[in-house]
Amino acid sequence: MANMLVAGNWKCNKLWNEAELFVDELSQILAQGDGQGQFCEVMVAPPSPYLAAFAQQFDGPFFVGAQHCSHQSMGAHTGDFTAEMLASCGVDFVILGHSERRADHSETDEMVAAQIRAALDAGLRTILCCGESLELRKLDEHFDWVKRQITAATTGLTPDEMAHVDVAYEPIWAIGTGVTASSAQAQEMHAFIRAVLAELHGDSVASDTRILYGGSCKPSNAAELFACQDVDGGLIGGAALDPESFAAIVAAARGVLSPS
Ligand code: PGA
Repeated sequence: MANMLVAGNWKCNKLWNEAELFVDELSQILAQGDGQGQFCEVMVAPPSPYLAAFAQQFDGPFFVGAQHCSHQSMGAHTGDFTAEMLASCGVDFVILGHSERRADHSETDEMVAAQIRAALDAGLRTILCCGESLELRKLDEHFDWVKRQITAATTGLTPDEMAHVDVAYEPIWAIGTGVTASSAQAQEMHAFIRAVLAELHGDSVASDTRILYGGSCKPSNAAELFACQDVDGGLIGGAALDPESFAAIVAAARGVLSPS
């Protein structure tokens, strides 16, 4: 299994001066824990206006991620930006298919597939988000839903390209609600996602693909979630806004913080 990844998704939060303070504090805390436990990659995805400065100014101990890129090429698309633009200013990762983008910006499976294609062509690493609503889970349609999302986004990608795709399972009912999926629910879906990846791309890609959990993951539950066999890290929203809680989640992924 590859290294763990803990990725912070700031969404639409923090002013620039707050972002600078965060970077200073996080860098200091992470430096203290350096070398402890197993290696864990860390990524921070600030709002888009800060990306170039983040990537170029801060030599922090984390990768820089965007929260979106366009499914279209450069041209007359006011307000939009491409994966190539992100890569050209030093961004490493892009989060794609987040449920908030699917809901707020009507992003379809086809658009998400085109974004992944563009991001991989630009040399970016991608985090593909999937996850069901509470209604779908109650109807017992959550497995079909997630399978459809993964199939639509990754069909046709080569094993080399899949090496640059992490999947994030984010049940919509757990995002920002304080309700976390139980470790049993997370493990069940993560194992299912790995089986879907094996069906689509073969066993080796399936076992090498990181599957992150996202949805009210915080210091108090991270260690238990990360202890699940098929949970390879987390995509963190609210708890990623505070350097101490984000660093505690990184410590949990390193195995330094035990399940409480
Ligand atoms: P949350 O968000 O941790 O605030 O639930 C996770 C996400 O949406 O990526």
